[in-house]
Parts: sequence; structure tokens; C-alpha cells
Amino acid sequence: MAPINIIYTSIEGNTRAFIKRLSAYAEQQHTFNEVNPLINAKEISDQTVPEAEQAPFFAFVPTYLTGGNGIDSGFTEIMTNSLGEYIASNGNAKYCIGVVGSGNKNFNEQYCLTARKYSRLFHAPFLADYELRGTSRDAEHIYDVLRDQWSKVDA
Ligand SMILES: Cc1cc2nc3c(=O)[nH]c(=O)nc-3n(C[C@H](O)[C@H](O)[C@H](O)COP(=O)(O)O)c2cc1C
Repeated sequence: MAPINIIYTSIEGNTRAFIKRLSAYAEQQHTFNEVNPLINAKEISDQTVPEAEQAPFFAFVPTYLTGGNGIDSGFTEIMTNSLGEYIASNGNAKYCIGVVGSGNKNFNEQYCLTARKYSRLFHAPFLADYELRGTSRDAEHIYDVLRDQWSKVDA
């Protein structure tokens, strides 16, 4: 299978660290059996030049919200906007085949809300979530989920 494409953003490094862990796990699985795909990840920041994606990808989305309480009053996405704008531009949204959210459960009802928003906005399934830098178990679980979804588009 072709490498799994991931597009992500990371403000404080947690998502970057998780992608690194996921990539290392993918490499290990690929060594066991080359049918298991590697990971091809691209980080988006405010400095990223917009581009038209040419192939399906998964979006990894940390959560940064301000204002509101997430239940009965509004809240606003901050910090991660460049990722959403990148996906929304150049027809990229049609290639977004799934969203993985991350956040911190201390935020209660606001946990992973940006990923849930992107899932609705870009008509892509919400596939999984993990907290902060994630665990080895998260990486294994999320790799399995992505590989199953990827096998459907990479058939
Ligand atoms: C200012 C700020 C606001 C945050 N708001 C939320 C939130 O609303 N919901 C949530 O689940 N996590 C929230 N988090 C936690 C982050 O999503 C979490 O730390 C994540 O792992 C950050 O990823 P990054 O290091 O790749 O940027 C917030 C963190 C900060 C610093």
C-alpha cells in the first residue's frame, strides 16, 4: 500500500510528537510485513504556502478554543485556523477522508471540538481521538483505524 498521507498542525508540539510515534510504529509494522503502509506526514503552520493536494489524506487536529463554555454559549477556534484554511482551499477538502482529534479531557465538553467541527465542515468521518501526546496504545489503535480506511481508497 502507498504511504498514508496525514496533514496536521501542532502549536506546542504534542501532535508532532504523536505523529512521530505513529510514524515509528508504522515503520515497525512495515518491516514485519511490507503490506503495512508507512506514514507520509505534512505539518501546516501560518507560514505554509497553500497548495492543491493530489491525493487523499487524514487530518490530525488539536483543539484550541477561547470564549464560551462549549455547551450553551459560543466558542472560537484559535491557533489551528491555518490548518482549516489549508483544507478548505484549493479543493483540498474533497481529499480529506477522515479526522483524528486531540485535546485535553480537562476541557470537558470542549474536548476535541475542533476536530468534530472539521469533520462536519469537510464531510469527513471523525475516526479517533487521543489526549495530549497520546500513548503507545493510542498509536497502535489509530494506525489500525487509518490503515483500514486507507485500504479502501488505495485499493
Ligand atoms: C490555550 C489552550 C486552549 C485549549 N483548549 C482546548 C479545548 O478547548 N479542548 C481540548 O480538548 N483541548 C484544549 N487544549 C489542549 C490542547 O488541544 C492539547 O494540549 C493538544 O495536545 C495541543 O496540541 P499541540 O501541542 O500539537 O498544539 C487547549 C490548550 C491550550 C494551551
